[in-house]
Formats: sequence, structure tokens, C-alpha cells
Amino acid sequence: MLTLRRKEDFGEAFRTTVSHTKMHKTLQVPAPGSLGPVTPEEARLLEKLDLTRLPRHVAVIMDGNGRWAQKRHLPRIAGHRSGTQSARTTIETCARLKIEALTLYAFSVENWRRPKAEIDFLMQLLREYLRKEMPLIQKNEIRMRFLGRIGELPPGVQKDVREAMEKTAGNQGMVLCVALNYGGRAEIVDAMNAILEERNGHGSAERISEEQLARYLYTEGLPDPDLLIRTSGEMRVSNFLLWQIAYAEIFVTETLWPDFNRARLLEALLEFQKRERRYGGIREGEAPVEKPARAAGH
Ligand code: FPP
Repeated sequence: MLTLRRKEDFGEAFRTTVSHTKMHKTLQVPAPGSLGPVTPEEARLLEKLDLTRLPRHVAVIMDGNGRWAQKRHLPRIAGHRSGTQSARTTIETCARLKIEALTLYAFSVENWRRPKAEIDFLMQLLREYLRKEMPLIQKNEIRMRFLGRIGELPPGVQKDVREAMEKTAGNQGMVLCVALNYGGRAEIVDAMNAILEERNGHGSAERISEEQLARYLYTEGLPDPDLLIRTSGEMRVSNFLLWQIAYAEIFVTETLWPDFNRARLLEALLEFQKRERRYGGIREGEAPVEKPARAAGH
């Protein structure tokens, strides 16, 4: 059944009416004015979406900006610029759907290997994005976090990142994490070193638990992503949230990131809802073969 979370959240500009086949109820889906009206395709997808079973945390590997530009005989940076529109649509849609957290992989520790001009452009683009999108981020009550070795970024970027976190710290809506100078292995190493540093003072030889390690990751306090989306068809996790995606459903689409629009996002959410999540256990009602107190599985 399609159940709406909070009717009063619905905005005017992105108001659509979808008749529910069984319940003959009206679904009005919110979104800010910048998103534009719902297309018939989106309306069909929204009708199928169960708003009570959305992922708590969506993580996205935004890939394919370069190929998108190449196909159009444009410089790679044109693909990155166009990709900011997809980021905006994804952020606003997830916020309006009341998804708890969204993490976007904007720049990896490996991305420093790219040409300097492209790196400089990406850093400028991020700064521009933070400046221009701040009113919309505030309007949607989004709280910003940045995951990665932020202290290694150019000083201007560090300043903007700090300011964005400070300005949005009191917001109560979705947490938007931008993974910046991020590496999954680096994150685990940073967490281990933070634990060691704390222990050195106390001489503690206690074993480190999963819970303790998780508290030292950049994502501390956030639920693990339950949906990982990767655009442009590559079947890789690319050093992204290695610890946190242990049980995430992975959705890979051929769509290149600049073409990833609201309909494609809704398709990913629908696919997530079709998956059966067992966390290494067995299907409900299914008799265990042996005696798996905690069945191992994948
Ligand atoms: C991968 O495309 C994309 C990135 C390196 C991330 C950059 C993302 C954006 C600029 C989107 C905007 C996001 C924010 C948060 C401002 P690629 O260059 O690897 O594409 P390719 O594999 O086709 O070469």
C-alpha cells in the first residue's frame, strides 16, 4: 500500500496526482520548484513505489561524466558540469522522499592522478556548487557532512567545506555526505589509527569490536547504506565505503551520470524494493538445513 509519510511536506511546484489502482487514493509527491513537474513516466514509477520501504541510506558512485562529454565531442569538464544537475536532482528527490542519508562519491583519493586542470576544475565546481546550492540545501533542511581526508584538500576548499557543515549543522532533514578525497581503505586505516592514538594514553590491550571501529569511521552515527547505485555500467565498488556496504544492495545502471534523472533514481529505488534482504540469514519461514545460529552467507 502506498502510504504517505507527512502530507504537510508536500510542495506546490512538484505536485502530481497519481491514482492508486487498488486503493483509489491520491499520491501527491513533494519536490522543490527547481525539480519541475512530474513527467508521466515518473508518475508511473511513483505509483509503484512503497514510501514506507525506502532505503535509509543511499550511496552513489557518480560515474560516466567523461564518457558523456566524449560522446558529445565536448571536453571532460563539460560532463562534470552537467553532472552537477544530476547531483542536484538526486539530492532534492532523496530529501523530499525523507531518505535519512545520501552519500555522493565526488572525489576519490585515486582521483589526484587525473590531469591538474581537471582536478582544479572539480575543486572549483564543488566550491561553486556549495555557494549556489546553499539556499536550496537550507530550504530542504539538509545537513551536510564531508567524508574523506579533508585536511589534505586545498585551503579554500577546506574553508568552504567547514562553512557548509557549520551552516547546516542545525538542520533536521536528510544528511548529505559528500565523499571528498575519500578512500575506503584510507578510512579504515584512519579509524584504526584514531583508536590506537586514544589507546596509547591508556595502555589498553582490549580487542577492537566492529561497533567500536564503526564509531571511528567518517560515517559515525549514520546507518550503513542499504542501496549503492553506480552509474555508467562498471561492476566495481572502487574503494567506496568498503566497510559500510557489507550488506548493501548494489544497483548498476548503464546510464551515464549526467543522464541520471529523477526517473532513473525512482527505478533504482523500485529495484531495491524488489530485492529480498537476508543479511546472511535465511528466508523467513524456511527451515534451517543444519543448525546455523548465525548462518554465514552472501
Ligand atoms: C566520474 O566521472 C565522476 C567524478 C569524478 C565525480 C565528479 C562528480 C561531479 C562533478 C558531480 C557533481 C557532484 C557534486 C557533489 C558537486 P568520470 O570522469 O570518471 O567519467 P568517465 O569514467 O566516463 O571518464
